[in-house]
Amino acid sequence: MAPLLLLCLLVPLCLLLLAVRSSRFAHRKLPLPPGSLGLPLLGETLQLISAYKTENPEPFIDERVTRYGAIFTTHVFGEPTVFVTDPEANRYVLQNEGKLFECSYPSSISNLLGRHSLLLMKGSLHKRMHSLTMSFVNSSIIRDHLLVDIDRLIKLNLDSWPSTVFLLDEAKKITFELTIKQLMSLDPGEWTENLRKEYLLVIDGFFGLPIPFFTTYARAIKARAKVAETLRRKVRERRREYYEEEKEKERKREDMLGSLLELEGGGGGGGGGGGFSDDEEIVDFLLALLVAGYETTSTIMTLAVKFLTETPAALAQIKEEHEEIRAKKRGMEALQWSDYKAMPFTRCVINETLRVANIISGVFRRATTDVNIKGYTIPKGWRVFASFRAVHLDHEYYKEARTFNPWRWLNKNPSTQGNLFTPFGGGPRLCPGYELARVEISVFLHHLITTFNWEAAEVDRLVFFPTTRTQKRCPVNLSRRKSTSNTAMKI
Ligand code: HEM
Repeated sequence: MAPLLLLCLLVPLCLLLLAVRSSRFAHRKLPLPPGSLGLPLLGETLQLISAYKTENPEPFIDERVTRYGAIFTTHVFGEPTVFVTDPEANRYVLQNEGKLFECSYPSSISNLLGRHSLLLMKGSLHKRMHSLTMSFVNSSIIRDHLLVDIDRLIKLNLDSWPSTVFLLDEAKKITFELTIKQLMSLDPGEWTENLRKEYLLVIDGFFGLPIPFFTTYARAIKARAKVAETLRRKVRERRREYYEEEKEKERKREDMLGSLLELEGGGGGGGGGGGFSDDEEIVDFLLALLVAGYETTSTIMTLAVKFLTETPAALAQIKEEHEEIRAKKRGMEALQWSDYKAMPFTRCVINETLRVANIISGVFRRATTDVNIKGYTIPKGWRVFASFRAVHLDHEYYKEARTFNPWRWLNKNPSTQGNLFTPFGGGPRLCPGYELARVEISVFLHHLITTFNWEAAEVDRLVFFPTTRTQKRCPVNLSRRKSTSNTAMKI
């Protein structure tokens, strides 16, 4: 009896040990992408930050690609992360959003964005709201409704510039005013300026340590509540008008808030066809659009000017393009869609700025299951960073990849570059503002070039952490040009 009892105890115990051992073994056997996890807790975060705080962050990725290959493992910002620097694998990550991967932001960021932000939505709701956003800012909407205000507001801003400006600050002010106009038809004034002051505190919070007391982040959370309250009041006001003033409807349809209200039948509750069930959701949605296009578009505006200033042949060529457009116009006649379409070299400059500066250098995702990719397995729950920058600056795909050369884009359509050019991401989260951003930057360059001559007021360096920006916010000295318009030439 005793041996039988022993056997009864031993067999399950052995099976259990075997199971534990084999599961550990199986985990170890997963072909993780090679790499180094660096120091305990810190990983390789300090190496990454110190590289990205310089003008040349490339060695961080270059060294690891040379040592481990195009897909490697590191440990940054608190967790193991697989860096993907291969165009095909990046595409795989982007296209499988919602299937094998999902976007993931730390809760500190989600708190600032708001639960109902498009950037945080998932699944079918995300799909619906993403295509709704696309429909607000597609080419025909820009051509028929948005362009006229983009042209007017940019010109209005430039007209008030003194002889020295910090380009980055001015570009941010312009981008903010344009977005407010597009969202709710409001021209710059006291209301927008007060909102902007609070909004700037919110933006600072994205780059501060998420400590909830006496910090930039804490101030940002408070400011976020104020911004949300201001927007909420505006939403309520507009909803009242929607009911009361039939004649207002036409105007409201032309801005995004009007379209959102129309979508839900002006009634709030029930979510209508658009997925909104209350004001809170609309406020988060508006705020997300305000945030998403702000740093990005304004930084590319500024860096395009910086690169042009440093590349005199490109500056000469773009001036010629814009002078030609202006010369065909009477006085300060507004730009038309056909003028925007007649800016081929400007498009090259914008593409090249997006490629070299990479304001969004890549995107983080989280594997929702074990994912096999190029012979490796990314374990479920692991974070992945699809690096656009690594591809954009790879000599294998771009000749002299690390030099600003807008001419490389002549007669080349960026949308046919497939996985090699993804400044606006791709897959289900492709940036809905990709055309709007291009139009805003083009119009900005047009007015800057035809209104001013400029020179850098100080030597200013590019850095890439916590975001892509110039250290001194791009100070420039300006002098007004004589008008190149038809009228002026006749005088
Ligand atoms: C040069 C300017 C811009 C650049 C480089 C840029 C880049 C990007 C990138 C790379 C993504 C994808 C993020 C991801 O996959 O996680 C994205 C998403 C997004 N962008 Fe832009 N963007 C720019 C301007 C704009 C503008 C003007 C708007 C205003 C409509 C906008 C609205 C958005 C929104 C709402 C998302 C989230 C999409 C989603 O998660 O479904 N962006 N942008």
